[in-house]
Amino acid sequence: MKITAQELRDKYLKFFQSKGHTIIPSASLVPENDPSVLFTTAGMHPLVPYLLGVSHPGGTRLTNVQKCIRTGDIDEVGDNTHLTFFEMLGNWSLGDYFKSDAIKWSFEFLTFSEYLGIPLERLAVSVFAGDNDAPRDEEAAEIWKMLGLKPGRIAYLPKENNWWIAGNAGPCGPDTEMFYWIDDGTPAPENFQETEKDPRWVEIWNDVFMQFEKMPDGKLVPLKKKNVDTGMGLDRTLTVLNGQRSVYDTELFKPMWDVLALDQEVMSNDEIKRARIVLDHVRASVFMVNDGVQPSNKDRGYVLRRLLRRALVMGRLLNLKYHWLEALIGKVVAGYAQAYPDLVDKANQTFDVILAEQKKFEATLEKGLKEFEKLIKKSSELIDGKTAFDLYQTYGFPWELTKELAEQSGQKIDKSQFEAEFKKHQELSRTASAGQFKGGLASHSEKIVRLHTATHLMNAALRQVLGGQVWQKGSNITEERTRFDFTHGQKMTEAEKSAVEALVNGWIERDFTVKKEIMTLDEARKLNAIGVFGEKYADTVSIYTVFDPKTGEVISREFCGGPHVEHTGVIGKFKIQKEEASSAGVRRIKAVVE
Ligand code: GLY
Repeated sequence: MKITAQELRDKYLKFFQSKGHTIIPSASLVPENDPSVLFTTAGMHPLVPYLLGVSHPGGTRLTNVQKCIRTGDIDEVGDNTHLTFFEMLGNWSLGDYFKSDAIKWSFEFLTFSEYLGIPLERLAVSVFAGDNDAPRDEEAAEIWKMLGLKPGRIAYLPKENNWWIAGNAGPCGPDTEMFYWIDDGTPAPENFQETEKDPRWVEIWNDVFMQFEKMPDGKLVPLKKKNVDTGMGLDRTLTVLNGQRSVYDTELFKPMWDVLALDQEVMSNDEIKRARIVLDHVRASVFMVNDGVQPSNKDRGYVLRRLLRRALVMGRLLNLKYHWLEALIGKVVAGYAQAYPDLVDKANQTFDVILAEQKKFEATLEKGLKEFEKLIKKSSELIDGKTAFDLYQTYGFPWELTKELAEQSGQKIDKSQFEAEFKKHQELSRTASAGQFKGGLASHSEKIVRLHTATHLMNAALRQVLGGQVWQKGSNITEERTRFDFTHGQKMTEAEKSAVEALVNGWIERDFTVKKEIMTLDEARKLNAIGVFGEKYADTVSIYTVFDPKTGEVISREFCGGPHVEHTGVIGKFKIQKEEASSAGVRRIKAVVE
């Protein structure tokens, strides 16, 4: 069946809407108020608090298309299936339906002719083989059989295949995965258990039966309510449905290939891989910058910088024509304008940020090339691998660039030395990114929750002290502090800061109640709720109100997904650490609770 990306997105959302799901927007690639993870890596990621029991304003059945970034397999990018940016189609049950409906609907969407119409002969599934944590999933297997899957097409696989968790801790459980046979020339083998490793079986969808929360110490605690979390990669599904060989062959990349004006027929595999890396990295960079990431030497900014620099180096190796980067950005924005209109709204800024980084890097690249010249002069025939690795680290020269340049001047690099250095570095960054996940959204540390409520109180206090023209422009909470940006034309005086502190601490001491309510957007507006309207879950929103239980006096009423403390007495002492300019007309406060 031939299908476009937009048709696939629409079909998926409409299908699950017809099964009672609320369509929710894609969350940002930058996880909100979650300092522990760099990027949103799956559709379930922004939903972790809800999977752990917080009620969601959209109800108990949700569906969306989520933008995701995964950089764990960055070295594989450019093969047929790996990407750093991709979209994930997902549907969720928050303590609502479970295995039988989830599998039935997956089957219906995959095989019914009005949806994807995949013939049964091309379909296989895997289910959890069972261990001490959860039993062999005969229940899921029986449901698949009842729907028409032949027993041979159901493989029972262990935890490393059929258990899903984001990172090290959080909601998790056994899953059932769905595979599509891509070879048009050879019929799919009957016994999937024996052939599941055949690359012609491509996994396209995963239904996770979330029944546990994995604690940071590794213990599995059963969840009060069982959930379903599913993920279907849009690029991959599009590729197999259209009978294409690689995710880089879909219409999503087609306009970008046109810009490169390369003839793949005459390119070597290495060259094709480089071109794919350019396309992937530029697409990911556009989406990252659109969600507010700026190139830097730290965290998200560093990931972005690495992607852009790698793309620029590859572009140079491919001899791409002048202005190719600009043209590619334009193609990404235009290609995704319908699905993500904010790409167009923020396009100027995206161009500025990426092209500024290009300018900066080109200067470094020149310097790196000079360093390289020096290196060549003082080296014998064999360049040492450690130096090559330093070039990689400092100037962003990938191994292959250094190798290629060396070969041009008749020299070789000690690859095993380079690889040893590279491995050391990889292990370091793996440990670092595993650390990034620890205590993630999943655990929502109690300190972060206290800071979250303190931020609402500060917002209310600022409006009382400075006036109702104060509006929140952004906020970011880490374990250490809350950072809050708001509209205000001048520096706050000491007296104003003390007044805000005194108000907030007074409310904390009086131990006010924090209440969450779900209401329609109209109702919330009538109540003058304030806050950032980023997430308009259909027509309903969740509102947190802080009020004096004795008098009913309302201190703060904000749109927010939470979580928050139940009463303010537990917050601790609130203190402003810093008040400074953020941008024109916007001030920034950093505050702590002790
Ligand atoms: N959260 C399910 C998946 O990413 O496959």
